[in-house]
Amino acid sequence: MLDALVAYEDIAADALAGLTATPKTLPSKLFYDAEGVRLFDEITRLPEYYLTRTEMALLKRIAPEIASLAPPGSALVEYGACDPTKARILVDAAGADFAAYVPIDVARGALEALAAQLRTQEPGLAVYPLCADFNHDPVLPAAVRGMPKFGFFPGSTIGNLEPEVAQTFLAHARRTLGDGAWLVVGADLRKDAQTLLNAYNDAAGVTAAFNLNMLHRLNREADADFVLDRFAHTAIWNAAQSRIEMHLRSLARQSVRVAGTMVHFGKGETIHTENSYKHSISAFQALATLAGWSAANVWTDPDMLFSVHALRADSAR
Ligand code: TRP
Repeated sequence: MLDALVAYEDIAADALAGLTATPKTLPSKLFYDAEGVRLFDEITRLPEYYLTRTEMALLKRIAPEIASLAPPGSALVEYGACDPTKARILVDAAGADFAAYVPIDVARGALEALAAQLRTQEPGLAVYPLCADFNHDPVLPAAVRGMPKFGFFPGSTIGNLEPEVAQTFLAHARRTLGDGAWLVVGADLRKDAQTLLNAYNDAAGVTAAFNLNMLHRLNREADADFVLDRFAHTAIWNAAQSRIEMHLRSLARQSVRVAGTMVHFGKGETIHTENSYKHSISAFQALATLAGWSAANVWTDPDMLFSVHALRADSAR
């Protein structure tokens, strides 16, 4: 779970910067207030949202194989770790092979709750929570510096990064984790447009509520006066860029006040709120290779919906 309590002080400035740009955008980190966290949790259980359940089933099946890659005494370093469920699948498959777990996240509250939970459930595992933005090249705790490193980045979060940002992230992780390290990444696969569109525009309207919640949040926290039923959630498959785009479409020509500034919308104009890139296996491997990793292995579910990549930091590179 992502934490609602991420300190977010420049919300009005961030929102206005995006809303006065052309085309209009809003930063996706605005999604995760308390209501956004609750709605995202609901998304992961929707029939159309195959990602979470497919990745979980795949991880359970291949966990022994993944865990066998880690030398005994390894430190498991998870990027964007609010929910320990997936890491526990690896830890439980590996028995005593992981000596330490470093969950990295910006959400301090969630990190502390997770650390407390794991310390009781996995008493053999030393937990060193690290409150940091994984995009800003975090420094690992001194206690794990001598251990072999095993990075973990599940949830297809890599797909929410622009490809050049994803490459920078992977290059930083390569340097931080060091020669000989492993990095296991969960990535949603490119597939037919309808399956993707359904996953991001469910029949029950939960993804729509999740997207619109951003405007609700700006009304409360950035002195805005959006009328929510004058905007509609839209998911678009951008084949050329291989990404699902989430937008909020203005249903009328209208003006909205945000933190004292008037923002004008044409009818049909959209605010772009999120991208979710869908990397084919070869495209992902190319990205990882550019960032200094060797593509060692890849697993998929039988329906080829989702992929889990094992990358190796060869010392020769
Ligand atoms: N990484 C997931 C995905 O792209 C989670 C996610 C991020 C998401 N933003 C979202 C899911 C917006 C639904 C809507 O699917």
